[in-house]
Amino acid sequence: MPDAIQWVKKDPNKEDVFWPTAELKQRTWVSDEAIYDQANADPEAFWAKHAEDLHWFKKWDKTYEFAPQAYKWFIGGKTNLSYNSLDRHIEAGKGDNIALIWEPEPIKEEAVKLTYKQLHERVCKFANALKDLGVKKGDAVGIYLPMIPEAVIAMQACVRIGAPHSVVFSAFSSESLRDRMVDCGAKVIITADGYYRRGKPINLKKSADAGVEDSPVKKVVVVKRTGAEVPMTEGRDVWYQDVVANASSDCPAEQMDSEDLSFLLYTSGTTGKPKGIMHTTGGYAVQAYATAKWNFDMHEGDVFWCTADVGWITGHTYINYGPLMNGATTLVYEGSPDTPDTGRFWAIVEKHKVTQLYTAPTAIRMFIKWGDEWPAKYDLTSLRLLGTVGEPINVDAWMWYFNVVGGGRCPIIDTWWQTETGANMVNNLPGIGPFIPAIAGRPFPGVLGDILDSGGTPLGPNEGGYLAIFSPFPPALTRGIYGDMDRFKAQYFAEYGPERYFTSDGARRDEAGNIRITGRVDDVMNVAGHRLATAEVESALAQNDKVSEVAVVSRPHGLKGEVPVAFVLLRGGIEPSDDIRKELMATVNQVIGPTGRPDQIVFAHDVPKTRSGKIMRRVLKALVRNEPVGDLTTLQNPESVDQLKELVRHQE
Ligand code: WTA
Repeated sequence: MPDAIQWVKKDPNKEDVFWPTAELKQRTWVSDEAIYDQANADPEAFWAKHAEDLHWFKKWDKTYEFAPQAYKWFIGGKTNLSYNSLDRHIEAGKGDNIALIWEPEPIKEEAVKLTYKQLHERVCKFANALKDLGVKKGDAVGIYLPMIPEAVIAMQACVRIGAPHSVVFSAFSSESLRDRMVDCGAKVIITADGYYRRGKPINLKKSADAGVEDSPVKKVVVVKRTGAEVPMTEGRDVWYQDVVANASSDCPAEQMDSEDLSFLLYTSGTTGKPKGIMHTTGGYAVQAYATAKWNFDMHEGDVFWCTADVGWITGHTYINYGPLMNGATTLVYEGSPDTPDTGRFWAIVEKHKVTQLYTAPTAIRMFIKWGDEWPAKYDLTSLRLLGTVGEPINVDAWMWYFNVVGGGRCPIIDTWWQTETGANMVNNLPGIGPFIPAIAGRPFPGVLGDILDSGGTPLGPNEGGYLAIFSPFPPALTRGIYGDMDRFKAQYFAEYGPERYFTSDGARRDEAGNIRITGRVDDVMNVAGHRLATAEVESALAQNDKVSEVAVVSRPHGLKGEVPVAFVLLRGGIEPSDDIRKELMATVNQVIGPTGRPDQIVFAHDVPKTRSGKIMRRVLKALVRNEPVGDLTTLQNPESVDQLKELVRHQE
């Protein structure tokens, strides 16, 4: 067993700082500080070196090219994400290694293990089936699947034939599914009859059917998972098991241009309409591969468990492409962490000898609440490294994760990144450290970034500002918003110009350059690690015809990080009641899904507005946080503020 991480207290007035052990330094891929200077002096050479580990049908002619909102990587190169995830390892004689372990939620069901060869065969068969259904290179394909092996198989099959996938989180509503399919123009989607969640079968086909209505989708492939009776529409719906039955397992990977689209993933921006973030093939592959390898000390034979859903970017990069490109074993768990009891995660770690666990602070806070006795029941000594992602982690959660889960042996890699960045961007490396509670660390080698003030001037240590990323942009950074390049420019490059990407995150760094992320500076929330715009919840509520006006703001929450609070003005004559509150919750469920549900709905008569009639969300935000409301002189109705203060308190 590795010795405990060396505990160093440099300065009693500072947070505790942890450094890697000699054993860890020796084992991992990089442990020399000099890597930062080397990589940052020549990011192109740095990324090109990682790119050389991967397979290219044709090598690139030029590494990087910059033009405003049109930067490119590995220009002229031809590669394929699925080839790099599967064929590359089979060719190297490693086809019998386990690629994927699937743990179903019902404990009476057996886990499924697929070797690289078996996964390859399934991917090829399904890729051919997709072709038979008319899918061609460049066609978007929707994936609305739960956490079952077919989610990974379907994504791999799509990129294998050059059809960009657009995965929609299975807990999102049918309306969310429709919006996304309409936007990307998918003609085929892959879904399932259902899945298990908290011991119960959930019917997914019903939402898929509703979402497909009035959309461009013509074919629906349905994976049989629960065996539930689901209606199949003649001429439109086909069973996955039927289409793969006779498909050939010979499907050469399409030679994709490095800059070809590999997938779209919709994420929340500041408006009510999620945006389709575009990711390329070559650049994305290289950064997904390199960050999975270095950040998580990933080696063949490792059992890597990223607990995110495949519907989020974390699942794309660190359940599917990152671990598979590294030849590791990726673990996919179908269900809930409290089924059959709150020890399930630790039972899975013990059962499958998980070596690296990558999860979100929200989950960690929930585990703390459930009690130390649950992890204590299981043998967690297979764990070597822990990762966290999705929201700022608080010191208590960090220390608990470090001591109770990691047994004081495992470094914690706190990875800051976004759907837009495609792969990890800011975190310290396991062999270099330091690991500091609540601090992500330095940008990954080759990633140039800094903390700037609103005018674009770099700030000194401990000065709060905004995190920006500079050109040469990391290779996985998004190339745009699908169908809306104006919004792409306005959202990310208006602030600091075309060579400095604006992240929308507040941050500051210490003297050593370690960055603390303080959270979003726009109207995007992180609710239980799920990204959500206040405007999305507003537009969902506004769909209920009892609502005349609505404003949503975020409020910090002990468990979930942040939660939405809604201020609702009902139409004339309608009296607030618990029934209406329930009805509004149901509206949000229907439009967004359970992730969008407000923590509190405050029925108000008036909300603070400027003289020009704009709702002052800043004031509402201060109110729900019990903070000073600040200057109210520009309001047309300052008296509304005191009334609201009472209402917030009484309508808990
Ligand atoms: C937040 C998730 C603090 C941040 C990968 C970012 C974090 C947003 C961290 C992106 C972290 C992500 N520490 N905050 N380690 N990781 N965030 O697109 O506000 O779902 O802008 O991508 O999550 O969320 P997204």
